[in-house]
Amino acid sequence: MEAATRRRAMPLLLVLVLLAAGVPAAFCVTNPQDASALNSLKNQWTNFPSSWSSATATDPCDGGWDGVMCSNGRVTSLRLSSVNIQGTLSNSIGQLSQLVFLDLSFNIGLGGTMPASIGSLSQLSILILIGCSFTGSIPQELGNLQQLSFLALNSNKFSGKIPATLGLLTNLNWLDLADNQLTGSIPISTANTPGLDFLTKTKHFHFNKNQLSGSLTGLFNSNMSLIHILFDSNQFTGPIPAELGGITSLQVLRLDRNGFAGAVPPNISNLVNLNELNLASNHLTGSLPDLSSMTKLNVVDLGNNSFAASVAPDWFTTLTSLTSLSIVSGQLIGEVPKGLFTLPQLQQVVLSKNSFNGTLEITGSINKQLQVINLMNNLIQTADVTSYNKTLVLVGNPVCNVPDFSRPSSCSVQQENMVAYSTSLSKCASTASCSNDQSVNPANCGCGYPYTGNMVFRAPFFTDLTNSATFQQLETSLTTQLSLRDGAVSLSSIQFNSDDYLQVQVKLFPSSGVTFSVPDLIRIGFSLSNQTYKPPANFGPYYFLADPYIPLAGASSGGSKKSQISTGAVAGIAVAGGLLVIALIAMVLFALRQKRRANEAVTGRTDPFATWGVSQKDSGGAPQLKGARNFPFSELRNCTNNFSDSHEIGSGGYGKVYKGTLVDGTRVAIKRAERGSMQGVTEFKNEIELLSRVHHRNLVSLIGFCYEQGEQMLVYEYISNGTLRENLLVRGTYLDWKKRLRIALGSARGLAYLHELADPPIIHRDVKSTNILLDDHLKAKVADFGLSKLVSDTQKGHVSTQVKGTLGYLDPEYYMTQQLSEKSDVYSFGVVMLELVSGRQPIESGKYIVREVRLAIDPNDRDYYGLRGLLDPAIRDSARTAGFRRFVQLAMRCVDESAASRPAMGEVVKEIEAMLQNEVSGADGASSAGSSANEFDGAGGGARAHPYSDTEITRGSCGDNASEYMPYFEVKPK
Ligand SMILES: *[C@@H]1O[C@H](CO)[C@@H](O)[C@H](O)[C@H]1NC(C)=O
Ligand SMILES: *[C@@H]1O[C@H](CO)[C@@H](O)[C@H](O)[C@H]1NC(C)=O
Ligand SMILES: *[C@@H]1O[C@H](CO)[C@@H](O)[C@H](O)[C@H]1NC(C)=O
Repeated sequence: MEAATRRRAMPLLLVLVLLAAGVPAAFCVTNPQDASALNSLKNQWTNFPSSWSSATATDPCDGGWDGVMCSNGRVTSLRLSSVNIQGTLSNSIGQLSQLVFLDLSFNIGLGGTMPASIGSLSQLSILILIGCSFTGSIPQELGNLQQLSFLALNSNKFSGKIPATLGLLTNLNWLDLADNQLTGSIPISTANTPGLDFLTKTKHFHFNKNQLSGSLTGLFNSNMSLIHILFDSNQFTGPIPAELGGITSLQVLRLDRNGFAGAVPPNISNLVNLNELNLASNHLTGSLPDLSSMTKLNVVDLGNNSFAASVAPDWFTTLTSLTSLSIVSGQLIGEVPKGLFTLPQLQQVVLSKNSFNGTLEITGSINKQLQVINLMNNLIQTADVTSYNKTLVLVGNPVCNVPDFSRPSSCSVQQENMVAYSTSLSKCASTASCSNDQSVNPANCGCGYPYTGNMVFRAPFFTDLTNSATFQQLETSLTTQLSLRDGAVSLSSIQFNSDDYLQVQVKLFPSSGVTFSVPDLIRIGFSLSNQTYKPPANFGPYYFLADPYIPLAGASSGGSKKSQISTGAVAGIAVAGGLLVIALIAMVLFALRQKRRANEAVTGRTDPFATWGVSQKDSGGAPQLKGARNFPFSELRNCTNNFSDSHEIGSGGYGKVYKGTLVDGTRVAIKRAERGSMQGVTEFKNEIELLSRVHHRNLVSLIGFCYEQGEQMLVYEYISNGTLRENLLVRGTYLDWKKRLRIALGSARGLAYLHELADPPIIHRDVKSTNILLDDHLKAKVADFGLSKLVSDTQKGHVSTQVKGTLGYLDPEYYMTQQLSEKSDVYSFGVVMLELVSGRQPIESGKYIVREVRLAIDPNDRDYYGLRGLLDPAIRDSARTAGFRRFVQLAMRCVDESAASRPAMGEVVKEIEAMLQNEVSGADGASSAGSSANEFDGAGGGARAHPYSDTEITRGSCGDNASEYMPYFEVKPK
């Protein structure tokens, strides 16, 4: 009887205990399978939220683990954006079989391959892994996720093909695979396989910035409900599919920077809801498309195609919603229709490199948002532009030669930059500055650790970056939708980047305290990764890439003691990492040295190229030289489209130069010796050997060579901005005095390196302005070592050899005595310096620049040093400076008749450095001295990452002072 009572009492006791512990516990105890899955995820991470190892929150579902949400003991949501997870994603993720939301975005330390077991999460509806470091291919098992509505894998390092099984995700609303390294074609269904043409509910196809190829024929159909198609920056070919015209919901169509060919299908005019149409930089032919029915169009770019010549189409003056019209190289003729400029919304017009002629009329009422009109390199003869006083570029038009043209400033490319918006901190002037990584919170002028990142708008409907109202709306939408305090957001560095995306640096500040809590980070991160946050409509599609949140970096657990340990661990890792780097550098140096010794030993006995040229099929005998790749002929042929004319960028000493893109995306310039004129075998070998040994930021690097099938080719890094000569010719005014000093300094450094640091020293022998190339940042790079000569070939510091070089640059002493020394390069460099001063070629109309300058110099002429008549008009104002005089004097010392009296290249470098230093501190004032000094210090310091760009103009303007180094346009060397 007693025993029975006890047995009955036990369960009651248990219930009472559970009730005492709180009701939720009874319902939220984590299912053991899910708990073990979470623990094994955690085991592969070296950094995770501190709550995941807290002693008081041992049960994940008990509300204790940040980012975990459960229903009936099953994990339904795992959201861990921006918490600095490091490690890989365990296969056991597949055990969380009730998972609906998975967001691990903005954990740059999270990578490895994506486990195929994700395909067993049959309830998953949202999968977001933006801005992590995942590699390998996208598992085809994703096709099993029938519930998936949102799939964002953008900004990782996924490679391989897009699995056709993604076509089975028929509930998908959002598909973003952008900014990865995906290859192959877009899967299109066949009788036996699915394809993305099945995705009729999907609104977003974001595949931009990959290496996808093939044709899109068959991908689109009128059952689709797409609103954004972003396929830009890939390698697609074939026609633009006519079926696109059936998707009338479309708002943004970006197919730019691909290889699309043929005519634009006429039914594209059915896309009456389109806001942005960008077809630039393809191979499109036929006539310009008729866009007159697309009355909502804001942004149109059709430039850099091969359209047939035509007059400006009617829609230039009828599309009243246009904000930006850009057609570079569009073969447009006749007059620019004056109605274009009175379009009510217009902000930017870029019609450079066309053949517009006659009169340019910008009259009548011009709206004040119109900020940029670029008509460079047209045939405009006269201009009436009185109604417009913002940026107008007419360089390269006959009107610039009219003596009394009323807007001479339009004939200079350098016009005042418009300053892009940034959040004002002026009311916080009393907050001196914040320590470490904290920033001033505009909401209260206090300091805090902001959550920062870049918001990238892939197709905004506007180009005007100066309009405060536009960006203040963005600020307000951020604070309200993300539940932040009023004003707790700061926008800066607003600019169009090289992909033509609008990029905005965003800082969000915590509402209280100086840091965000982990749950707040996860909440905000998810709002931005899952597109819950919506910017004002005119900003168009966006993505956000958060920076690691500083206060969490390296801290793996809560508690001050633990975080100290982890700080120590971080320091330890840093030290170990540092040692590793040092060890690696030492190893590389050692290996290089060993290799050089080996090479020297070989050179001593036999010519390493001895087998070359003896027979035609001996490419196998070509040595693999210090990092220079031996390219198969077929690879170079493929990447230049069989050496087509469109890839030709110039002709060098012994053949043509082509540009191409290697399979890995590297852009290269390929110098191909002409068939039948291979007399330069010696030069060829010479150049490979030299260039593969020589590495300096002011020297063009050799990437590899090809010696196969009777071909001789050299593969160099691609230098985007053409030769110094072309730049002086085409955009003299853009090259102001300071830029010229920098170019002189860069090339002098390259030469000084060859003379003084290369081992053995190298004499260039053909220094001239067409052998100095300029990159995106106008950094000078000395090219063409085909005639170089090793100084070790001689005993006495000069080399007796056949005279080579280029008329006008040739050292007279060398010419007469045939005794070559480094000083011959110094002479040629002096001539280049005089070119920088005069803008002229060394010999023009039978006059030799060295002689002309020597005769003209007049020390008593305070203004021009006697050189007024010889000066490049573009720098006339700089001639009054002391630096100018010093520069001319230095040039004259370089071209001294006697080699012994010329300075060494190293000395030239030092003098120009000093001039530039004066120029910067004198002319610019103290404020910018720091940054500028940094730039001319080289080391790539001032140069921001700015990939080579084929586009002629950077859209809009750039709000920071680095814009000076972004050329306004690109010269295509020809
Ligand atoms: C402008 O170009 C058109 C078409 O090439 C030509 O017919 C016309 O005569 C030119 N006008 C002037 C003023 O040169
Ligand atoms: C020119 O610009 C100034 C402001 O810089 C403005 O006040 C003025 O109205 C403009 N003139 C014309 C004709 O647009
Ligand atoms: C983002 O997530 C929420 C659930 O919290 C969902 O309702 C919403 O539809 C998602 N946003 C998009 C654009 O899918």
